[in-house]
Amino acid sequence: MNKPDMRSYLEQIKPYVPGKPVEEVEREFGLTNVIKLASNENSLGPSPIAVKAMQEKIDKMHIYPDGNSFYLRQALAEKLKLNPGQFIFGNGSDEILSFIALAYFSPGDEAVTVSPSFSEYDFAARLVGAVPRPVPLRGENFLYDVEAMLSQVNDKTKAVFICSPNNPTGSVIGRAELDYLVKKLPEKVLIVLDQAYIEYVEDPDHNDGFGYLNEGFPVVILRTFSKIYGLAGLRIGYGIAPVEIVADINRVREPFNVNAMAQAAALAAVGDDQHVIRSREMVASARKQIDKGLAELGLKAVPDQANFFFVNTGVDSKLLFQEMLKRGVIIRTGDIFGFPEYIRVTYGTESENKRFLEVLKASLVELS
Ligand SMILES: Cc1ncc(COP(=O)(O)O)c(C=O)c1O
Repeated sequence: MNKPDMRSYLEQIKPYVPGKPVEEVEREFGLTNVIKLASNENSLGPSPIAVKAMQEKIDKMHIYPDGNSFYLRQALAEKLKLNPGQFIFGNGSDEILSFIALAYFSPGDEAVTVSPSFSEYDFAARLVGAVPRPVPLRGENFLYDVEAMLSQVNDKTKAVFICSPNNPTGSVIGRAELDYLVKKLPEKVLIVLDQAYIEYVEDPDHNDGFGYLNEGFPVVILRTFSKIYGLAGLRIGYGIAPVEIVADINRVREPFNVNAMAQAAALAAVGDDQHVIRSREMVASARKQIDKGLAELGLKAVPDQANFFFVNTGVDSKLLFQEMLKRGVIIRTGDIFGFPEYIRVTYGTESENKRFLEVLKASLVELS
């Protein structure tokens, strides 16, 4: 058909394939009790206080949202002891990744990432014709290799993306390693620290990166309400950066990019420490349950600091996915990350984990 030529570099973008929705699997297989452990959501659901805040807000939906997210900004600044001007809000933290690319990358620029990691860094770079330079993580525990990352930095490098805990491996970058990397980078290279899962980290060696904000490093810290706060359906996340970087990024932001319901729920969720504690406890005990169950099957997950785990199953994960789907459990296959025998699974409630382990066992038997 007649249409304008698409920008040629968009051919490099593979459309994102999201985790299958529960309803779709129930329709497809005629099941009623499907569980989804595929997108690292919070199995406890949203904070009940956030739910109440949304109910109270519902009859105000004829009014545009606050384009500045004023109350949420104030609440986060107070909680995290930062300046309100250091925040930028997005329709999910995904959106802020695109903002970063739109604000700073030009065609031919490069961005250092790691592999395997979250696909949206590649997407953001490719959206504007920049080129991701993925550096493999090291060894069976998928650790960061900062020297290898530094070796990929050149005159074209605009940013380095560091996901910690890393999706899909759950591994973290140590404090000293991050410090070394940040201080060795050329001074104009943007350091993006994606901390979508930071609330789950138990390791005291993890660095929240806030120190870099005050030391003049060009850093953007990304956080989200989609994970521990259980608000993925609302799409709200935020970046924390020096005010000069916030001002640049703000230029590419639509005025009402964060909806009013999301702002109300997030504001309430920031004050609900109990939900965060409950969610963290759920994951800590789920990890023990899963480790034990996997060991009985002769499997061992990569050590993680997140609400999901990555495990080598020794079989083709696409076939395993299908077998598990038939039995009503949705997981994520590792092939999309370049690891065809691994699966990534979200820690669930005790009963969800039990069901996962039973279905995994039955599916592995079926495939043997
Ligand atoms: C590492 C990482 N960053 C960001 C996101 C996206 O978060 P949001 O829902 O805020 O767009 C995800 C979601 O899976 C993620 O795994």
